[in-house]
Amino acid sequence: MNGTMVSEDNAPLQKLLRPLIKALRTAYIQGTTVVKLMPSERAIQLYYKYRRKSYDLQWSIDPGYRKGLRKLVELVVEKNDRVLDVGCGTGSATVVAAPRAKEVVGIDLSPHMIELAEDKARKKCISNTCLFASSVEDYRPDEAFDKVISSFMIPHVKPHLRPQIYSCMFDFLKPGGLVGLFGSRGEVCDVYETTDEIVENLTRSGFTEIKLYDVYDIYRIAVAKRPENA
Ligand SMILES: C[S@@+](CC[C@H](N)C(=O)[O-])C[C@H]1O[C@@H](n2cnc3c(N)ncnc32)[C@H](O)[C@@H]1O
Repeated sequence: MNGTMVSEDNAPLQKLLRPLIKALRTAYIQGTTVVKLMPSERAIQLYYKYRRKSYDLQWSIDPGYRKGLRKLVELVVEKNDRVLDVGCGTGSATVVAAPRAKEVVGIDLSPHMIELAEDKARKKCISNTCLFASSVEDYRPDEAFDKVISSFMIPHVKPHLRPQIYSCMFDFLKPGGLVGLFGSRGEVCDVYETTDEIVENLTRSGFTEIKLYDVYDIYRIAVAKRPENA
């Protein structure tokens, strides 16, 4: 396991504004504890039905989030890869991955988020994406993927069910394939996993070669491998 920091930009204005940006970002991340109030898939779908546009705007203006997505894709996605974006939401990671990949399939529980993801891909003239409304648990791909990515979906999964979701991701991958997860850190907000929890959950699901990368002060990327012989 290693930890590489993706650091903040050092342009003078950004340096000056950094404490303010950090406070806003931390407050926003702590606001995601609202997911604890969503007891079911139906509640998640209803939430995103009304929240999807403001959700997309809010994240799109955070440079830390955009930088984290680019880093996730750089670490995991290669030319010729078939990639699955799990809990793709409005497709923010999907459209970053698509130009580097052969094909990106995005799945999300919310059909309303999928609509926005389709609009986003269309506006960017990206044609190698397929987007489906499906939960992770119900999704049955015809073919295994080279890579699985997932960004900020795990807070929606109750802590005791997380190894089960990682097991689904494991099964979606070809042997030797990589999973890349982007989110915040449990040390900052308790709906996310701490370092120990993410390592334990990924290990329990069969992943090896786990690497963790800090992004700015509050985000984290985890990359892990489905072993060749598993
Ligand atoms: C916080 S959003 C993240 C969206 C996107 N990945 C991003 O980075 O902006 C979480 C997404 O996970 C989806 N989600 C939650 N539970 C899910 C499940 N069990 N299966 C598939 N998608 C799920 C939600 O519908 C929502 O769109």
